[in-house]
Amino acid sequence: MIRSVITGTGSALPVRRVSNAQLAEQVDTSDEWIVERTGIRFRHIAGEGETTATLAADACRAALAAAGVDAQDIDLIVLATATPDQTFPASATKVQAMLGIDDCVAFDVAAVCSGFLYAVQVVDSMIRSGVAKRALVIGAETFSRILDWEDRTTCVLFGDGAGAIVLEAQDTADEGGRGILTTKLHADGRHNQLLYVDGGVSTTGTVGKLRMKGREVFRHAVTNLAAVMTESLAMAGLSADQVDWVVPHQANARILDATARKLGLAPERVVVTVDQHANTSAASVPLALDVAVRDGRIQQGQIVVLEAMGGGFTWGAAVIRF
Ligand code: UT7
Repeated sequence: MIRSVITGTGSALPVRRVSNAQLAEQVDTSDEWIVERTGIRFRHIAGEGETTATLAADACRAALAAAGVDAQDIDLIVLATATPDQTFPASATKVQAMLGIDDCVAFDVAAVCSGFLYAVQVVDSMIRSGVAKRALVIGAETFSRILDWEDRTTCVLFGDGAGAIVLEAQDTADEGGRGILTTKLHADGRHNQLLYVDGGVSTTGTVGKLRMKGREVFRHAVTNLAAVMTESLAMAGLSADQVDWVVPHQANARILDATARKLGLAPERVVVTVDQHANTSAASVPLALDVAVRDGRIQQGQIVVLEAMGGGFTWGAAVIRF
């Protein structure tokens, strides 16, 4: 049986780190409001020369080093992003060039905050079907460039960054072996207008700015995330009390708490980085995963659930024996 095994993780953040107090000098907000409503304390904001592709390439270098894999041995790069460097070519091909890889398959996936989960399912399917053997799966974003910096209801919530994993095909006869056990994705396009960008190539010909009806997104997020985690755990034949770690999309600490409570999961088992990174969209899950792997919390053999929900709506979860 072929399984996709995570053999390395990596992440990258822009140099500039911005506190709530610094933001409050620019917009009508306060550290108290942001911390109480979201749990966010800091976010990183990309500067000149820092782009989605440069952050992604840095995250990949760290993941390749952790896996002990040479870049030339990568045969597939899938980059989840809603903020590509250019409309085309795919930023994944820029990452390929930056890593000096002569030939591989490279493309982007657009599912906003759940993009990394979508990319993981695509790559896992390609690995298990034998199309790819050693892949880089990336979530990378520069949301600071599509924020309306005069809209306090959105600009305080997001940050920039990138996370990456090396996924490798491993043959295991053992049901209890390592690897991705299940992935489950959903989309419901009826909710397009609750979280979107008010521009685009084929409509306005502009990049546009992010717009969100936060309270309604919040309500859907808790319901959908709890449901998809329950669904993906059932598919893996596991129950919530067998989960060692949940690595959720980092949108709001209150969403993380409410979702964990709904599933009866202890808060100590949820990896939280929203305080340090804010919402980095598709980058948030692989960024948080890398933090918890590098600080020693996530260990080989443990059951880890990744989950995310975002614009579309799109949402999904993956259950992994790490
Ligand atoms: O990544 C994709 C998924 N995204 C999410 O999951 C985000 C989900 N939504 C949320 O995280 C929360 O709904 C928010 C953090 C966006 C907002 O929190 P809320 O508790 O739902 O607040 P609210 O939108 O109901 O606003 C409450 C008040 C309003 O004032 P009034 O109308 O009650 O007088 C807002 O104008 O807070 C005000 N407000 C602010 N005040 C200070 C909104 N933004 C700010 C701000 N600073 N930055």
